[in-house]
Amino acid sequence: MSSPALFTPITLAAPEGPGLTIRNRAFVAPMCQYAVGELDGLPTDWHRQHLGSLAAGGFGLVVTEATGVSPQARISPRDLGLWNEAQVQAHARIVAFHHAQGVAAGIQLGHAGGKASTYPGLPGFPTGTVPPTEEGWPTVGVADAPVLPGLAPARGLDQAGIDAVVADFADAARRADRAGYDVVQIHAAHGYLLHQFLSPLTNTRTDGYGGSEANRTRLVREVVDAVRRVWPAAKPLGVRFSVTDWVPGGWDASATSRLAHDLVDHHGVSWLDASSGGLSSGAAIPVGPGYQVPLAARLRSDLAGTSAAVSAVGLVVDARQAETIVVTGQADAVSIGRAALRDPHWASAAARALGVASQENPQAASYWRSGF
Ligand code: FNR
Repeated sequence: MSSPALFTPITLAAPEGPGLTIRNRAFVAPMCQYAVGELDGLPTDWHRQHLGSLAAGGFGLVVTEATGVSPQARISPRDLGLWNEAQVQAHARIVAFHHAQGVAAGIQLGHAGGKASTYPGLPGFPTGTVPPTEEGWPTVGVADAPVLPGLAPARGLDQAGIDAVVADFADAARRADRAGYDVVQIHAAHGYLLHQFLSPLTNTRTDGYGGSEANRTRLVREVVDAVRRVWPAAKPLGVRFSVTDWVPGGWDASATSRLAHDLVDHHGVSWLDASSGGLSSGAAIPVGPGYQVPLAARLRSDLAGTSAAVSAVGLVVDARQAETIVVTGQADAVSIGRAALRDPHWASAAARALGVASQENPQAASYWRSGF
């Protein structure tokens, strides 16, 4: 029997060299753990065991959670960061374990903008902005306004602030390379800073970063270019988009496709992850099994003929569902979120369910006997 499509290798292209070949198409989506101990952005034992379990569990690529490019960029005070040397060393340990398991190591670099400094998404915490009198900080964003109701108003970034954000992304990417990561995913989704600039719902600027689509997409292109300048040409670069705001007049699938095409054709991006939402609490999102897969399929079809790979995400929970997405060409890979929290060995179980022979199962060698 031929291999299931989900368990055939995939290569993410890079500007130079053969690109990054990943052993299978089951990726782990980035997921904040809110598990930093001293609010210093450093990975802890929790991150090592969490990401390590996923690496042992058969996935092809494990993407580390949204990691702040500066202290102010973090979604919550308990998020990871990559703004100093100690963090590089701690991330390097995680990456080394991934590589020992034959797993590709990715990291999502982000700036939360006006959605920064929020309480951890854990039981027992309130929602909303953590004030500076606690562990929080004043937020910056696309405009002098709250991004969503219930959040503290951000201060709109001036040109110097924008330049600093772009430089922070590049510096963090340089550190990600030194930590050994194979691929960086720039977080342009879920209502965080880059998405705040993309979307007409939040971008009310009247300068060169607001108004026309060319202006609203400028910051993403500047960040991608700055990262691409320091991120090795032999390594692939990805972007995660909210393909649509699910709101009339918001950022939408057509705009995503236009920007993605430009990033792939002219800015050295080769992997797009197709998520959605994050900027409107009132949006009517048709949540259900694979609900964002059509967004990935649209993007993939619009990028046909390019070297880009597109991954689908969102309530992909079952091996056959994932196999169908890949084998029918709706996406080149799937990103698994909550199902991987429920079962860090989701990919190895999926391989078994799809009939992959025991000796081909991508799980950790030490778990070999689990197949009998
Ligand atoms: C997330 N998600 C997320 N997305 C992202 O781009 N960066 C992140 O750091 C996080 N953090 C995060 C934490 C937790 C606990 C969850 C459950 C989710 C969103 C995640 O990557 C994914 O897009 C969604 O969970 C939808 O996929 P699933 O969970 O339905 O497979």
